[in-house]
Amino acid sequence: MTVIARRTILAGLASLGVASLARTGHAAAATLKAAAQARGLIWGAAVQQTQLRDDAEFAALVAQQCSSFTPEWEMKWASMEARRGQRNFARADAMVAFAKQHGLGVRGHALVWHRSVPDWASANLTWDAVAAHVEAMLKRYGGAPFAQWDVLNEVIEPQDGRDDGLRNSPFLKALGPDYIARTLTLARATAPNTKLYVNEYSLDYDSTIERARRDKLLRLIDSLKKANAPLDGIGIQAHLRIDRTPFSAEALRKFLAELAGRNVKIAITELDVREQNLELPTDERDRIVAAEVKRYLDVVLDEPAVTGITAWGLSDRYSWRTTPEMIAKGRRNRGLPFDETLAPKPFRDTILAALERARPR
Ligand code: G3I
Repeated sequence: MTVIARRTILAGLASLGVASLARTGHAAAATLKAAAQARGLIWGAAVQQTQLRDDAEFAALVAQQCSSFTPEWEMKWASMEARRGQRNFARADAMVAFAKQHGLGVRGHALVWHRSVPDWASANLTWDAVAAHVEAMLKRYGGAPFAQWDVLNEVIEPQDGRDDGLRNSPFLKALGPDYIARTLTLARATAPNTKLYVNEYSLDYDSTIERARRDKLLRLIDSLKKANAPLDGIGIQAHLRIDRTPFSAEALRKFLAELAGRNVKIAITELDVREQNLELPTDERDRIVAAEVKRYLDVVLDEPAVTGITAWGLSDRYSWRTTPEMIAKGRRNRGLPFDETLAPKPFRDTILAALERARPR
C-alpha cells in the first residue's frame, strides 16, 4: 500500500497554494493549520485512506490545512478484523505513513463502538475478544502521532431506558456497565502516553433529548472518576443541523464548563452541518451554514478545556452527509469548510476567524 508521492503532494500544494487561498484574499500563511497551531489547538478532518492515496489535490489540501486527521472508518473493529485474529493493518499503516510524512497528528477512532463489531465477535461477545482488539490496536497505534484516541464511541442512549442512561449495546449486554471503565483502564495500561476519550453525539442543541444526553454523560463521567477510570477527555461530535432547534449558547457554555469542572479535556471531533434546503442559491446556503458554525464555535472556543476541532471531512467532495438522492439531483450537502472543487467557503473563513480569536492553550 503506497502513500501519495511527496513530489505529487508538492505539485498539488503549489497549485492549491495560490488558487485556493487567493480567492478569499487570505494571506497564504493563513491556513487553518497555522491558525490552530499558533494557539496550541488541533484543527483536523476525517479522511479516508483511498482519498489520500488516489486524490493528489485533496491530499495536498489535507497536508496544507490540517494539523491532524481522523481515519474515517479504517481503524474501526469491523474494518480492522473482519476475520478473528486476521487484522488488516495495511490501510491504517498507509494513513499513519502519510501523517508522519507531513508532520500531522492522528485522532484514533474508534476502538469500542456498537456499530462496528465484527460479525464473528458479535455472535458471542467476550471480554477476551474486546481486550485483544484494544491491546493489538494500541500496541501498534498508541504512540506518536496518535495524541488522542476515541476509546469508546456513543455509549450513551437515554432512550434505551436505563437509569444510568447507557446504551443497551452488545458490549453492555455481554460485559455489564463496567465495560467502559475496564476498557479505559486497559487502554491506559497499553498506551500510557495517548489521551483517552469517550466520544458522543447530540449534545449541542437544547432539545429535551439533548439535555437528557448531556445529563447522562455528566453522570457517566462522575461514575468513571469515582471508579478511578483513566478518562482524559470527552469528544463532542458536533454534527450540526440547520433544522435542529432550539440552540442555547448559555446551555452549551454551561455544559462545557461542567465537563471542564470534572477535569476532562474537550475535543470537537466530527463537526459538519446538515443543510435543510439545498434548493436555495449557493451563496445563501453557504451563508446559513457558516452562521450555524459561527454561533457554535463562538461558545466552544471560549472554553479553555477545548483542545481543538476536527471536522467530519474537509471538502464537500467527500461527505457522509451527501446522500445518493442528493447526487441524483445534482446536489451535494455543503456542510464542510471547502467545496467539492476544494475552494474555501464561508465555513472555512468562519473557522479561521474563530481560531484566530481563540485564546492560546
Ligand atoms: O469502501 C470500503 C471497502 O473498500 C471496504 O472493503 C469496506 C470494508 O468494511 O468498507 C468500505 O467503506 C465503507 C466506508 O464508510 C467508506 O465509504 C464502509 O463499509 C462503511 O462502513 C463506512 O461508513 C462509515 C461509518 O461511520 C461506519 O464506520 C462512514 O464512512 C463514516 O462517516 C461514519 O462515521 C461515523 C463516526 O464513526 C461516528 N459518528 C457518526 C459518524 C457518521 O455516521
